[in-house]
Amino acid sequence: MKIIAFAAFAALVPLVAAGATPSKVSVTMPGDLSFAFKPGPGSQAATTYCLICHSSAYVSTQPPLDRAHWDAEVTKMRKAFGATIPDKDAAEIVDYLTASYGKAP
Ligand code: HEC
Repeated sequence: MKIIAFAAFAALVPLVAAGATPSKVSVTMPGDLSFAFKPGPGSQAATTYCLICHSSAYVSTQPPLDRAHWDAEVTKMRKAFGATIPDKDAAEIVDYLTASYGKAP
């Protein structure tokens, strides 16, 4: 008798649980939250060297900076914060940031 009562109870639990929660929850997220860099020449170098310490949001939330400012940002990451980026890649990243997140000089 006890076993039957338990079996009936165990069979009911999932039904009650399913009834108590909505079967499908749909959430709409605003905008693009993927934190990937915009595609383009140099985006690979930026992905390799600029996501080690923080997300791409540090770049994408800046106002459009001109080349001199992006150059200064990359230099600051290297000199002040110790980012290890070869010169060739740093130059490519500055080009990329100016083209994709910058404004014409
Ligand atoms: C060695 C770690 C490190 C790497 C690698 C790195 N950053 Fe940063 N970055 C930081 C730190 C630390 C801050 C300051 C965080 C804070 O103030 O909260 C920062 C902040 C920033 C900011 C915000 C503005 C500012 O000056 O504080 C930008 C833009 C930025 N980084 C861009 C880049 C780019 C572009 C790259 C790739 C070339 C890069 N970072 C690579 C450590 C790094």
